Amino acid sequence: MTRPSGETFSTVLRQASVQDHADAETNGYMSDLMDGNLPLSAYAALTARLHPVYAALEEAAEAMRDHPVAGRFVFAELVRKPALEADLAELLGAGWAERVEESPAAQVYAARIREVAFTWSGGFLAHHYVRYMGDLSGGQIIGRMVERAYDLKDGKGTSFYRFADLKAKPFKDAYRVLIDEAPFDAEEQRRIIGEVKLAYRLNTAIFDELGAVDWSAAA
Ligand code: HEM
Repeated sequence: MTRPSGETFSTVLRQASVQDHADAETNGYMSDLMDGNLPLSAYAALTARLHPVYAALEEAAEAMRDHPVAGRFVFAELVRKPALEADLAELLGAGWAERVEESPAAQVYAARIREVAFTWSGGFLAHHYVRYMGDLSGGQIIGRMVERAYDLKDGKGTSFYRFADLKAKPFKDAYRVLIDEAPFDAEEQRRIIGEVKLAYRLNTAIFDELGAVDWSAAA
């Protein structure tokens, strides 16, 4: 829904979260990872943390599939959980699930998605937007930098960043139109902006958790 000022909600959402995005983008762990200054296990640890997050998000998508507003954002082409599992098998081996360490930050993030995204369409959109629009934007840069830094080839270990069944630019344009067409009133838009900002903080908390690990002894 367009605001009285004429700004579309997708524009308002982006502008309201510019600082939160910058905080995530400039996080020390993220910069170190993309520069190749960390061992491959530090990248595997991020992939492992994303798994419970996408498991929650993609279960929420199933729960919301027939919802008149949230259901419009459910796309099979976006589903990432199988790609994360393939990457984890590549990076950590077939028994990866037993070898993944506990992550309080990932648990808190997944719990928040489970709390709000299964029943509140705005909450679903907020978490969906931050992850998938991020994956189709900066995620494309991150995937390429990680491939280069760790010499990973043919999507082995990085299939999460490759969306085989869509083209990022037209998909993102169409996604923004869906955001603008959704019937969120001013109060609902305010709540969604708050949830988007929280979702960014939950991502940054994962980076902070990974940044606090001493990777010097790891392979
Ligand atoms: C080093 C890390 C990152 C880089 C280099 C980066 C870069 C970018 C760039 C260049 C765009 C604009 C793309 C476009 O308009 O088509 C963008 C958009 C976006 N990024 Fe990131 N990003 C990073 C990390 C993140 C993280 C960690 C998240 C959240 C999990 C995130 C979420 C988003 C979202 C939601 C958008 C779409 C904003 C909108 O147009 O509404 N990004 N990113």
